[in-house]
Amino acid sequence: MKRLVKGGRVISPAQNLDASVDIVIEDGKIVQIGPDIMCPEAELIDAAGLVVAPGLIDMHVHLREPGLEAKEDIYSGSRAAAAGGFTTIACMPNTKPVIDNAILVSGLIRQGKLEGAVNIKVIGALSKGQEGKELAEIGDMIYAGAVAISDDGHWVNNAKLMRLGLEYTGMFHKTIISHAEEDSLVAEGVMHEGAVSAMLGMKGRPAVAEDIAVARDIMLAEYTGASLHVAHVSSRGAVELIRQAKQRGVKVTAEVTPQHLALTDADVTGFNTAMKVNPPLRSRDHVEALLEGLKDGTLDILVTDHAPHAFEEKDVEFRYAPSGFAGLETSLGVILTALYHTGQFTLPEIIRFMSARPAALFGLDGGQLIPGAVADITLIDPDREWTVDSRNFYTKGKATPFEGKKLKGKAVATIVAGNLIMQNGEVKI
Ligand code: DOR
Repeated sequence: MKRLVKGGRVISPAQNLDASVDIVIEDGKIVQIGPDIMCPEAELIDAAGLVVAPGLIDMHVHLREPGLEAKEDIYSGSRAAAAGGFTTIACMPNTKPVIDNAILVSGLIRQGKLEGAVNIKVIGALSKGQEGKELAEIGDMIYAGAVAISDDGHWVNNAKLMRLGLEYTGMFHKTIISHAEEDSLVAEGVMHEGAVSAMLGMKGRPAVAEDIAVARDIMLAEYTGASLHVAHVSSRGAVELIRQAKQRGVKVTAEVTPQHLALTDADVTGFNTAMKVNPPLRSRDHVEALLEGLKDGTLDILVTDHAPHAFEEKDVEFRYAPSGFAGLETSLGVILTALYHTGQFTLPEIIRFMSARPAALFGLDGGQLIPGAVADITLIDPDREWTVDSRNFYTKGKATPFEGKKLKGKAVATIVAGNLIMQNGEVKI
């Protein structure tokens, strides 16, 4: 079946394309791009007034499968992804059991194909059980299809293990994604350490814990020549360390989340557990550094760190609540509101961070609109105003720091391999 996406502003940063053109899709692929295409036999997808982007890709998602399906599963999480405009998501391995072997990786890939509304990629653990003691079956997991390796949720405290992990993963030309927070400095901390934590009387997680972890990881990446990707960067020091390392030619890349760009530790003053996340929301000076880092290419990609928890787990005193919250259905709206509508970033820049660059970094299909490419496409209305209401979420994790917020910008259709999976907020499969 043929489909024609007609009348939109097509933006594909990988081709430096930003033009009013139409796209013909056939058998799951893009077959033609050009102005004023007539194709009467094709089903029409009217993109007038919309931005047509390569499908959004999120490299940092907690799908909670296997073992924690009360929080989320592939079915619900992938529908949340489709609703948010994502066509590909990569799931983190801090599940129960931990995704640390080839059987689990291949099982999840299979399950993703069966139940997933979007493309599901799997990230394997660096250490067995994410215990930080012994390397997991990295090679086997990569052969089974793992797209990266990570102990996300924990820093790899043991430097020798991290060195071995980098060397081993590097042999397979894959990347280690590091959750960089030095353990002893963040133990018991529940928010950013600073004036606000002092005022609230809460134990802090200092930015220097992140700086130390990033510094060591960069030194090991430099020493081994392997590639390192720093997860959810949140501190000024980390941005500067990554900037300098890139200048020296170290193979380091990095990601940042909407929450770390749009919120600060001042948002924690109401003790709302939906504001609790690791690394924590930091003070304004750190947020400014993140924005500078994104602008100058120090930070490469935007990710959600979608980390759903059950309602009753979050409905407790701040210090007892688990860290993390849903992000797939708010990410694009928050980014467009905070970055685009404030005039700080252009739409092609944002689409590069959310699609072209993650595809290139992790060697994924998609991320570009060009004949021959897979027809993973997101239609965006950058001016659509809407209010976040978690009752409408597809994710099981209803906690969001953006509840009740008015946002401007939304994905209005998600096309995966040529199939219209989401339209006007409704997931169709
Ligand atoms: O806040 C967080 N929650 N940060 C992480 O790195 C892990 C995540 C989770 O798995 O809940």
